[in-house]
Amino acid sequence: MRAAAVAFAMLTAGPAAAQSGPADGQKLAFDRGKGNCLTCHEITGGDLPGTIGPKLENIKSKYPDRGDLVAILTDETRRNPQTVMPPFGRNRILTEQEINAIVDFLQTL
Ligand code: HEC
Repeated sequence: MRAAAVAFAMLTAGPAAAQSGPADGQKLAFDRGKGNCLTCHEITGGDLPGTIGPKLENIKSKYPDRGDLVAILTDETRRNPQTVMPPFGRNRILTEQEINAIVDFLQTL
């Protein structure tokens, strides 16, 4: 009985884990101690957004290459030295794994 439950859990872990990227990414993006993206960006589903940055929408058509999004989150000052957007990767506000989860989320917008 127990072994069967474990086997079932192992079988279902794959797809469930694959889907957790965007959900984790949304949490990290909205978390004020993490991405805090809503301070500057309007994002569907987020409360009290700021308007310092552009609304984040149609991201996948705007940036089909996810590497571009990883670069923007890691260090936007490389693309725009004048930007006020924090270099989340360079400053280690977010780990590489957290940045990847947020990129998964951005691609759903
Ligand atoms: C302090 C304000 C600020 C914060 C916080 C911030 N951004 Fe930005 N972001 C900007 C600004 C301003 C731009 C406009 C481009 C530039 O300045 O280079 C931008 C641009 C972007 C772009 C490109 C959008 C486009 O339409 O081209 C993406 C994607 C993005 N930000 C994602 C995020 C994510 C995800 C977070 C949270 C992890 C975040 N930003 C946090 C200010 C911010």
